[in-house]
Amino acid sequence: MPLATDDFLDIDDVTPAELDALLDRAAVMKAGETDPRLGDATLGMIFEKPSTRTRVSFETGMTRLGGHAMFLGPDDIQLGHGEPLRDTARVLGRYVDGVMARLFDHEDVETLAEHADCPVINGLTDEAHPCQTLADLLTIRETVGEDATVAWVGDGNNVGQSFVVGAAMAGIDVDVATPADYEMNPAVFDRAAEFGADVTPSTDPEAAIDGADIVYTDVWISMGQEDEREEKLAAFEGFQVNADLLAGTDAKVMHCLPAHRGEEITNDVLESDRALVWDQAENRMHAQNALLVELLGGE
Ligand code: CP
Ligand code: NVA
Repeated sequence: MPLATDDFLDIDDVTPAELDALLDRAAVMKAGETDPRLGDATLGMIFEKPSTRTRVSFETGMTRLGGHAMFLGPDDIQLGHGEPLRDTARVLGRYVDGVMARLFDHEDVETLAEHADCPVINGLTDEAHPCQTLADLLTIRETVGEDATVAWVGDGNNVGQSFVVGAAMAGIDVDVATPADYEMNPAVFDRAAEFGADVTPSTDPEAAIDGADIVYTDVWISMGQEDEREEKLAAFEGFQVNADLLAGTDAKVMHCLPAHRGEEITNDVLESDRALVWDQAENRMHAQNALLVELLGGE
């Protein structure tokens, strides 16, 4: 069943039932390797920011699906040299079957979707990272199970915001602890509430991880925030996911990667059996392959 949405700009662009079906499809595709289903389809991939996982998982995914992915970095296309985004969108839509974009401003990915006559997938903006959420939910299904309770500890950033909404859609309980002034956008909790979640954010990591099956964190200094480094390092004291915080719990640990070891998470925790991070990274490709088949119409 194709998705009702033409674009995937945040996780709640799909319905909970569609999300469930996407994760089912991702699991089947992962188990059975991937049949080529997108023969002659091309995915344009616009990157304003660096990437390892997003670029490689989408590019490899398109190859496995029998299609082709095209890397369009800021120095490679006229977008980086002053061509308006809406013009880029109109033109790309005349050539490719889908666009995946990693941009700074979330409004820019909305503009892209408005003007490109093809599906647009958000590969991360300052506000959202829904492809990461797909992989995270697949990973939780495969490991702890969807009755898990997750604690988000750290910055109220793009990865956390999409995750809180996606978890609500999947019926997963989330506790959120962020430092004052680095909270998630309150609208995120309203969106989660639409799916029955009652998330009350706090500034207390220990309270958040109490009873959690999984502790999820991400970098404190996201791409584009490098100038805020010293201020943020001071504000995030006490939010590091380390052996002390996890003492007395069996909680697993999630991180979207890349990790800044010694800042938001310690090396020993990331290298321990608690870490689900490599499964999360692998699942980016399987979850996105399911999304690509649905959005680009491979069946
Ligand atoms: N998690 C994630 O999106 O990683 P990249 O920045 O390497 O794409
Ligand atoms: N919050 C991080 C995620 C990187 C995948 C960032 O935006 O840099």
